[in-house]
Amino acid sequence: MKIFLVGFMGCGKSHFGKRLAIQSGWDFLDTDREIERRAGLSIPEIFERHGEQRFRELERQTIGELAAIKRDTVVALGGGAVCCEGTMEMLNGAGLTVYLKMSPERLVARIDKKGRDKRPKIKGMDDGQLLSFVEKLLPEREKYYNKATFVLDCEGVADERIVGLLLRQVEAIKC
Ligand code: S3P
Repeated sequence: MKIFLVGFMGCGKSHFGKRLAIQSGWDFLDTDREIERRAGLSIPEIFERHGEQRFRELERQTIGELAAIKRDTVVALGGGAVCCEGTMEMLNGAGLTVYLKMSPERLVARIDKKGRDKRPKIKGMDDGQLLSFVEKLLPEREKYYNKATFVLDCEGVADERIVGLLLRQVEAIKC
């Protein structure tokens, strides 16, 4: 079985995904780390040297391969990875997709300077710029995120409780 965690930058797909995998005894994979490993370049370097379009091609290729993995795995996907036609449908056929839904304010609060600087699309932004960016892009991306089988609305849910709620989903699909 595979769990695919989707959602905007900063919602904690990798953070919570790693903890979920440990607690479930499953493997953990992150599309960004997989792309970096294969390219031998960091995400900022890929954007800088080859452009976003090439990054998206690598991302699509990587997702297709990860979706075919047979062992129990939690996969954290990059924030833009599912924002094209057909990807959510493909992932829904390959495992359980979960959207970690958070408000723009919470997303901004979760991404510190270091976190912004390692993400080319938001590098160097202050809180106000990042909030405007998220408020504009999130509704566009939610068209895709909302295709997830399970939407975990994190509004009012403390970080400490999120892995527990995800675990409950894993237990439910095991039954
Ligand atoms: C991106 C999100 C990043 C990474 C890249 C582009 C995006 O992943 O794939 O910087 O377009 O939202 P995270 O969502 O893990 O930050």
